[in-house]
Amino acid sequence: MKTLVVYSSQGGNTQKLAEEIFKQLPEDKDVAAVANGPNPSGYDVVCVGFWLKAGQPDPAAQEYLKKCSGKVFLFATHGAAAGSDHATMAMNKAEECTNSATVIGRFSCQGEVAAKVIETASNKDPQPPWLADAPAAKGHPNGNDFMDVSEVLIEAGLKTKAERSSGTMVS
Ligand SMILES: Cc1cc2nc3c(=O)[nH]c(=O)nc-3n(C[C@H](O)[C@H](O)[C@H](O)COP(=O)(O)O)c2cc1C
Repeated sequence: MKTLVVYSSQGGNTQKLAEEIFKQLPEDKDVAAVANGPNPSGYDVVCVGFWLKAGQPDPAAQEYLKKCSGKVFLFATHGAAAGSDHATMAMNKAEECTNSATVIGRFSCQGEVAAKVIETASNKDPQPPWLADAPAAKGHPNGNDFMDVSEVLIEAGLKTKAERSSGTMVS
């Protein structure tokens, strides 16, 4: 099975998660930033990673998702709490952006929000719904997130339980 990990990342959080997912996947695999993203049709599964902007996958990722019509695994980082309605709705939006792709799994976790971004969002009226969760995003994605994504990759059939130990722990 040939797998591609392609990601969009402005501040590095989604790239960190993408690199961990890439590390955990068995061969045969490639990884690329979305700007250099290869044609998804050359792969059996494409793992597409993005960050949330205005409650949606970031625009560059949305463009790439439109090209995906095969099997996809979606992953994301965001300021909102993991499992929040905000995050769930954004993952739904990502599914809608694909060209009727088959979504074999999805994972999202918090990604640290820069102080300046928090400050700008705090001055908005109304404040964005994810702002209250943003302080707790500090340090994410972290080792626990990497263990969680390992389980989701197993459920999606992208790695086996025997390969579970290849998940890395970082502080
Ligand atoms: C301009 C901007 C808009 C954002 N909008 C949202 C949002 O709507 N929802 C959310 O949960 N997080 C939002 N965030 C937080 C980022 O999604 C989060 O920090 C993410 O981990 C950034 O990923 P990156 O480091 O890969 O760019 C926003 C951040 C920025 C800079």
